[in-house]
Amino acid sequence: MSLSQADVTTERPPYAAWIRSSNNITQQFLSIGGQPDIVSLAGGLPAAELYPVEAIKQASARALDRWGATALEYGPVEGLPALRAAIAARMSREHGRRFEVENILLTTGAMQGLDLIGKVLIDPGDLIVAQFPTYLGALDAWRTRQPAYRKLTWDLDDPDLLAAMRKAKFVYCVPNYSNPTGALVPQNARGGLLSRAVEAGTWLVEDDPYLPLQLDGAAGASILAADAATRRHGTYDGPVVYLGTLSKSVAPGLRVGWIVAEPKLIQLLALAKQCSDLSSSMFSQAVALEYLESGAEAELTARTIACYRERRDALCAAAQAHLGEWFEWEVPPGGMFLWARAKSRDFDTNALYSFALQEKVAFVPSSVFDPDGALTSAMRLNFTRNAPDRLAEGVLRLRRAVQAYLAASKVRV
Ligand SMILES: Cc1ncc(COP(=O)(O)O)c(C=O)c1O
Repeated sequence: MSLSQADVTTERPPYAAWIRSSNNITQQFLSIGGQPDIVSLAGGLPAAELYPVEAIKQASARALDRWGATALEYGPVEGLPALRAAIAARMSREHGRRFEVENILLTTGAMQGLDLIGKVLIDPGDLIVAQFPTYLGALDAWRTRQPAYRKLTWDLDDPDLLAAMRKAKFVYCVPNYSNPTGALVPQNARGGLLSRAVEAGTWLVEDDPYLPLQLDGAAGASILAADAATRRHGTYDGPVVYLGTLSKSVAPGLRVGWIVAEPKLIQLLALAKQCSDLSSSMFSQAVALEYLESGAEAELTARTIACYRERRDALCAAAQAHLGEWFEWEVPPGGMFLWARAKSRDFDTNALYSFALQEKVAFVPSSVFDPDGALTSAMRLNFTRNAPDRLAEGVLRLRRAVQAYLAASKVRV
């Protein structure tokens, strides 16, 4: 049988519907970061000059000597067993009880952890109670699953919140130096959230990439640790699903992250991971293991904290001098971001953004951290990527952008 001309079609099936509700904001910010004439206060990038290039070179050589072809092989979906055991030991040290390897799944960055959680827990229309404003990457990761959101604003006595939690598939929060606000959730609020999640019988996802970046004293105990304290014996089987990563304390290019959770959930997440990427890079995991075993991370973290503290202070001082008329903020006690809120609720940072690009400075408008896109009066400024003089230059440019925006708009300040 031969096809006639009429049977041949150049029409191809349309793209999936969810992609229309997505955006390439993160790609844009990453590409702006690579343009030297723009001061990017946008991306969530570490200081590249701190990346331990020499130590990673040596760790790579040691990894190949130790693991040979295994380091270049497909690996177990749960991760390189020796690294899995090292992360179990690290979690046990940091979070106050013993975690078994069965509690750990190694992932390609914490971002994959978010993706896998979406695949395993969310069906279309399911409810997520999420700390607000919400990490853009989490909203991105879950968009394909089409969830509904209830904003968690820490008013823990609100009866509606408990009702929402009873219906929710999980609660999502970033208690340490949240992205985007840099806020540290107080211990009593962490405890309150945990007890309500336990009462509601839902999962509690604690995303903790900024734990190492404690600029002003200790972060305090994690929600995982608070829950672990009530479950001292046996294998951990609580409701907390904890995400960790080496992206902020070593280097994001390693793409080494992990999930801690009860073993049954870990098995399901591993099944989802198998369907996603078979396994994370064995080479990267082997290098990360060598690096961690060398003990170099503590010294690097201390240097990183000193550098970021200076940069945070430089950004805050410049912002106070040049943006204080229009914006207010709390000095972030850790992490990577300053969250500047406009004093006028009419101020629209989406509109400001194009004026900023004309002045060759970039920031992240608040709307992308709102599942509804309705929060338009704030912006996220990163202080870790640029040296203090460049941060000051960025803020001066931003001041000019604000002046141009106000001159062109009807906003009253
Ligand atoms: C709150 C939060 N979760 C997860 C991630 C993803 O981290 P990773 O580089 O480990 O994928 C980030 C990255 O900035 C983040 O801010």
